[in-house]
Amino acid sequence: MARRTKRVGILTAGGDSPGLNAAIRGFGKTAIGHYGMELFGFRDGVTGLVENRYLALDGAALSGILTVGGTILGTSRDKVHRFPVEGGGTQDMVPTVVENYRALGLDALIMLGGGGTAKNAMRLVDAGLNVVHLPKTIDNDIAETDTTFGFATATEIATDAVDRVHSTAHSHHRIILTEIMGHRAGWLTLAAGIAGGADIILIPEIPYTVESVAETIKARTARGSSFSVVAVAEGARDVDDTADYQAAQLLVKAAKTPEAQRAARTHLANVEDQQREHSFRLARELEAATGLESRVTILGYVQRGGTPCAADRLLATRLGAAAADHVARGEFGVMIAARGEGTAAVPLGDVAGKVKLVPPDHAWITAARQVGTGLGD
Ligand code: F6P
Repeated sequence: MARRTKRVGILTAGGDSPGLNAAIRGFGKTAIGHYGMELFGFRDGVTGLVENRYLALDGAALSGILTVGGTILGTSRDKVHRFPVEGGGTQDMVPTVVENYRALGLDALIMLGGGGTAKNAMRLVDAGLNVVHLPKTIDNDIAETDTTFGFATATEIATDAVDRVHSTAHSHHRIILTEIMGHRAGWLTLAAGIAGGADIILIPEIPYTVESVAETIKARTARGSSFSVVAVAEGARDVDDTADYQAAQLLVKAAKTPEAQRAARTHLANVEDQQREHSFRLARELEAATGLESRVTILGYVQRGGTPCAADRLLATRLGAAAADHVARGEFGVMIAARGEGTAAVPLGDVAGKVKLVPPDHAWITAARQVGTGLGD
């Protein structure tokens, strides 16, 4: 008996990232055109999976989306095991997702997303679904992959911003802090800071002291440069704030009962709240310590918006196409990682729940130090 056509679902979850549509297209064109599969796109990430909202994707739907930013499917940050329900509270929706997957007769589900999505994907693998995950995020913080799509585009955008603040900082003899995304990882700030020639780069992996940052600026002033550009990661903190945050994180990990977990999560959220606007605080502290006027530019969502750069289109296309190969061969429960110019299928268990931070001895850090960039330590 002829094997019936394979049916595959696809979704995009977490923060949007340039290259999502290129990956949908890369997977879809290979799955439909090369392997003759049927493709269904779930709307708004895990939300569409739970609510069974999907559309059939054909060649026409995949045409013209390679260069388009965002995601044609929509996205959300919902978690499959703690899904918000009417009247407040959350519910474990894994059984509902399994039901929807079976009812549609799916053979596989492709989940494009970051760290949170890898965890959702793992939960669905544990429930018996055939899942393949593709690593996207501008933060580049996913374990076991060389890089993630979205990162190259965001690096271009943030580098351009660091370039541009130079002339205004120089003209006004100011310190300009440019706050760059990246969640709790410093990849994006480090890359854009180096490429944009920031004088100081502050990342979460290297807690800073205001004294050290101020010393670097004063040394520049003494050499005749009466301005400084600081690339500061949204997750960068001084030594004390880093200790408070890490202690709050440990409490969450150590909490055993649901009440203790709730209390620990509330405490962590409070600590995070207190540390918001840290770039503005640092600007005030630097102004006081150096006598130079200071300003803050928060790049925000421009870093994730708009058309993907060529490198992200290429990466997303090859990861998407490789994912279709794995589905065709019946290999599931993996993330398709970028490895050099090729790809590798990594068990999701090696990825979910892990964060790839910048190692202190990373070559980019060494290079930054060698060219005289201050790292705040
Ligand atoms: O993970 C991508 C990212 O843009 C992070 O750099 C940032 O911390 C976060 O998402 C912002 O999240 P949201 O889109 O929920 O505001």
